[in-house]
Formats: sequence, C-alpha cells, structure tokens
Amino acid sequence: MRVNDPVSRRRFLGSSPLLAAAAATAARTAKAQINDASAPPPKPVRLGFIGVGIRGHLLMEAAAGLSGVELVAAADCYRGHLDRARELFPGVAVTGAYGEVLSRADVDAVVIATPDHWHLKMLKDALGAGKHVYVEKPLSHSWEEGEEFIAAAERGGKAIQVGSQYMSAGCAQQAAALIKGGRLGQVTLVEGRMHRNSATGAWYYPIPPDASPETVDWKGFLGPAPKRPFDLARFFQWRLFWDYSGGLPTDLFVHMVTATHQLMGVQEPDSVVAFGDVYHWKNYREVPDQMTALARYPEGFVLKLTSTAANAHPGPLLTFYGTEGTLEYDGNAMKLFHEPRSESFVYSTRSWPSATVARFRELMDLDETLSPVDGPTVAEAIEYRSPHDEDATRAHVRNWIQAIRSGGRPIEDVPFGFHAALVGHMCNVSYRAGKTVRWDRNARRVEA
Ligand SMILES: NC(=O)c1ccc[n+]([C@@H]2O[C@H](COP(=O)([O-])OP(=O)(O)OC[C@H]3O[C@@H](n4cnc5c(N)ncnc54)[C@H](O)[C@@H]3O)[C@@H](O)[C@H]2O)c1
Repeated sequence: MRVNDPVSRRRFLGSSPLLAAAAATAARTAKAQINDASAPPPKPVRLGFIGVGIRGHLLMEAAAGLSGVELVAAADCYRGHLDRARELFPGVAVTGAYGEVLSRADVDAVVIATPDHWHLKMLKDALGAGKHVYVEKPLSHSWEEGEEFIAAAERGGKAIQVGSQYMSAGCAQQAAALIKGGRLGQVTLVEGRMHRNSATGAWYYPIPPDASPETVDWKGFLGPAPKRPFDLARFFQWRLFWDYSGGLPTDLFVHMVTATHQLMGVQEPDSVVAFGDVYHWKNYREVPDQMTALARYPEGFVLKLTSTAANAHPGPLLTFYGTEGTLEYDGNAMKLFHEPRSESFVYSTRSWPSATVARFRELMDLDETLSPVDGPTVAEAIEYRSPHDEDATRAHVRNWIQAIRSGGRPIEDVPFGFHAALVGHMCNVSYRAGKTVRWDRNARRVEA
C-alpha cells in the first residue's frame, strides 16, 4: 500500500478516527450508566493492601481515585510504611501481620505488592480467605512456580489481576488492532529497551534513618526465603538479591514482554538466550546490572530485550518491525511509520553493459533511477495518543474492580501473567547455564 495514493492513504490513516470514535461512544455509554440516577449505586469494593512500600502506595493512590472503592486495611513489615499509609489515608487500619487483613470480613479483595518471593504464598492465602486478588508483576519468582499459580487461580474462582499496567495503557488496544489488521505487514522482529543511569534506577534505594530491628520485621520479610541474619540492604534493596528477585529480566523485561504478548497475540516463546553481567554497580549486588536477551516465538518472530543501569539514553519501550511499517510503542503514545518502498536496480545492474541495462529498463518499465515508474513511497510518521489521560496503573486497577463487579476475567489473568514472567525466568536460566534454553509447551518445563 502506498501512502501517496489518496485511497490507500485514507485506509492507512483510517483506523485512528474510527477507533477513537468507538472509544468515545464506549466512554459516553459508561458515563451515562454511572450518571443514571435511577440505578442504585454499586456496592463498594473494600480493599486490603499487603505490602505498602513504593508500589503499594502508588496502588493505594490509584484505587483511592476510583469511585465505589474503599480502602480498609494495610499490612507491612516496616512501621514507617504503615505510618505513611495512615498519613495519607487516616481511615485505613494497619497491621504488621498480613493474615489479619485476610481474616477481615470487611475486606472483599486484596492488593499484593510485596517482593516477588512472597507472591505465590500470599496469593494462595488470599484465595483461601475468599478474596479477589491484584498481584504485582512479576507474578512468579521462578518458572517452577507456574503450575501452582495456575492451579490455585482455577481453584480459587476469584477475579485475579496480574499487575502489569501496560496491558491497560491507553494505546494498547489500538496498537494490537493495528498489528492484527496487518498494518505493519509481516512482523519478524520486536525490540525492547528499558534503561536507567542512577543509583535509584540501579535499585540502591535509600535506607530510612529510623530503620532498625524495632521498626523492621525481618522474619516477616524473609517468609519463604532462606534464613539470613538481619540485613537492612536486603530488606530495602531486595531487587539486588536472587533470594527475593529475578533482577532485570523479571523486574523490567516483564513489562516489555507483557506488551509484546498482548500486541502480537502470543504467549509462549520456544527458546531464549541471554547475556548479562555486573558491569558498573558492583557494590554487594548479586543480579546483573545489564542484560540482553533474545526470545524466539514459534509464530515467526524474535523479541530482543535490553536493559542497562549504566546509560539512560531515551528510546521507545518497544519497536515492532514489519514489512509494511514500523511501530514505536510507549503504552500511552505510539508512532507508526510507513515502510518506504525504495526498489532500485542501480546497484545490482552496475556490472551490466549499457545496452543490457537499457533493455532491462524497458522490459521492467523502470524510470531513469532504475526504479519502478510508479515511484517510491515516502516514509511518514503518524502519532497516536491515548484517547483518555488516565494513568495506566489506575486503568489497570479499574479493570480489576470491574471484573470483580461483573464476575468477569480481568485483562491480565494468571496464565498470561505467568507466561510474561516465564520469559524473564528463562533469561536467568540461560544466563546461569551460558546457553540457549527451551520452553517445552507440552511438558510445561524449561529445558536447559
Ligand atoms: N507494576 C509496576 O510498574 C511495578 C513498579 C514497582 C514495583 N512493582 C512490584 O511491586 C512489588 C513491590 O515492589 P516495591 O518497589 O513496592 O518494593 P518495596 O520494597 O518498596 O515494598 C515492598 C513492601 O512489602 C513489604 N513486605 C515484605 N514482606 C511482607 C509481608 N510478609 N507482609 C507484609 N508486607 C511485607 C515490605 O515491608 C515493603 O514495604 C514487587 O513485586 C515489584 O516487582 C511493580
């Protein structure tokens, strides 16, 4: 398709206003339903929070901005985080024991935002207590946990949202529709990058000056992790250590993998290879500060992922490369580039005698630049912005609340969340083994 042809150009641009109009109609209908004075107000969904550190606070703020949602209780292992929760939400009951949140009859649903090594046990406990669950990404701490997560979710029968908010980003549906509709042609390569260049970006979070054995519940933090002596670096900078985190692949790659799976309509790679090292941030760090991985999908494309903590040069989160176009994707914004067609036979016929070139030009109907006479198409960028300005995290929590109310399935269910984390786990198995690793779909095992 050619961008300078008015008919196909209209087709090329077409989906943007159409999709925007559909989104506007849906928004109007939803608003009309909310404003329908005759409809009884929905029963509030009452939330408990387990883990109210950095992410837990963002999730409390996101939930507090939604109508029909009440914040009831919060549990954490550091007193300062509970004090801060009370500063911001004075009505919230706080406790150091998450079991107390789960046993409250006035809590319908819980948000789990603890370090990764706790997710499986807390999800199972929450389902056992009859609660709906929002559990942060990465869903799992190892690939071996996957089947247990999936079985628990099926048994539990509750609305479980895995917390990769890119799934609910403003451009996600439109981008998926563009790719599915063939606007990029055949996509054979996807590239993702997420870089940082600061101590905070490298996960050396500051330790609060009041942290001590009196204000920090060390045993509560360790839970199912190996026993170790009290260590504030491990408590506040847990991402640096394998016992609690999978490092860059499960912390950052998982966002790019989730969006790739959503936009490309896939879930499981067949093989992954990863290289990484601790190049720059060497202070007591176990996990690499730089990683690059390739994941190959049986649907016919490769996903290349990189994160470094030693350079923060900006770039799009993901780039989808297709035979007809390129999509730079950032969740709430994206740019579509038409792929210019620039066939020319100058290079390939330069060793031919002039008369042969002339004859070839005539036979092939080429112009004086030895290109097809209908001329090359031009590269053109079309920018899209989210049709609304809602923050992706709030939209993701809203999607979960809607699923709780409707009895439906949230946008990121447990199998999807596990497969996104799986790519990160495969990166770490590959990094340690120094070779390509395979995902056996039938046996549901990583083979090193
Ligand atoms: N979706 C995103 O963009 C995003 C961003 C940041 C973090 N996260 C995820 O959120 C989770 C938390 O990350 P964070 O940055 O908030 O870490 P954090 O260290 O700031 O907070 C974790 C909190 O969990 C608490 N905790 C640990 N064990 C507990 C227990 N047994 N009971 C109650 N509380 C307990 C800790 O005291 C701490 O306050 C991680 O899984 C992380 O990957 C997701």
